[in-house]
Amino acid sequence: MRGLLQEVHDRGPPSPEDESIAAHLMRVHDKAGKPLPHARQWSELSIFFYAGMETTAHSMAWCIYDISQHPDVERKVVQELDQLGLLATPERPTPRNIEYADLSRLTYLNCVIKESMRKRPVLPMLFRRAVKDVRIGPYLFPQGTIIEIHVLAMNTHPLYWDRPDDFLPKRWLEPDAMFAQPNPGTPSNATHNHKGTVKTAGIINITANASSAPISAPLKQASNTASRVTYCLFDIM
Ligand code: HEM
Repeated sequence: MRGLLQEVHDRGPPSPEDESIAAHLMRVHDKAGKPLPHARQWSELSIFFYAGMETTAHSMAWCIYDISQHPDVERKVVQELDQLGLLATPERPTPRNIEYADLSRLTYLNCVIKESMRKRPVLPMLFRRAVKDVRIGPYLFPQGTIIEIHVLAMNTHPLYWDRPDDFLPKRWLEPDAMFAQPNPGTPSNATHNHKGTVKTAGIINITANASSAPISAPLKQASNTASRVTYCLFDIM
């Protein structure tokens, strides 16, 4: 990564047409006009690589595996690709290249990807540390508590999903699948995401709000073990 960054620097200032991440990082200056230090550019560039590549590669691999395990799903995916001229067939050995606009036309494939990511989120757990004492519902989390946001549990909990263990891409075609009702206090920009995202945003948002709210007795003292905290959150969702 350092070598790559050095190579980019050796090319000199990026041209205005250069829309690469490295070029954007090189254009960033602080108020005094100083560029982002090399170490910071390196760390930002690295995070894009590992946050972007592993996640995407694993999600794609699981998605292909899920398709391979469900012949009915595979048949529908193939049919959709064929209808859009994106499938190699004996009559069309060289299909056209996929275009950006195709992403919104591949309705069923989108559902398959969402369903695969629901069942096998590559980041199944996220963690936050309470920077202050924080109240969430009836629970008090002392400053320093590690709060686990259990994405996998939320994505497969029977409270939120019908037949959570089944691979059912068509559930994403239901009208309320894309526009789940946000929890009170959820930021409006989270309302147009899928259910899992809305719930996650809700939890994070509650944490943020509660840190500025008065913490009054009597409150249950939450254990600060990660699993306990997760299920406390389920109780109040
Ligand atoms: C299927 C693909 C992806 C999944 C499932 C995914 C998932 C996530 C999740 C859950 C987080 C939040 C982590 C947290 O707050 O604890 C995150 C953060 C992030 N993602 Fe992705 N992501 C994907 C693709 C990408 C791509 C393609 C890029 C960039 C090229 C990217 C860049 C980032 C960055 C920069 C962060 C913030 C990291 C930080 O806060 O330090 N992700 N991603």
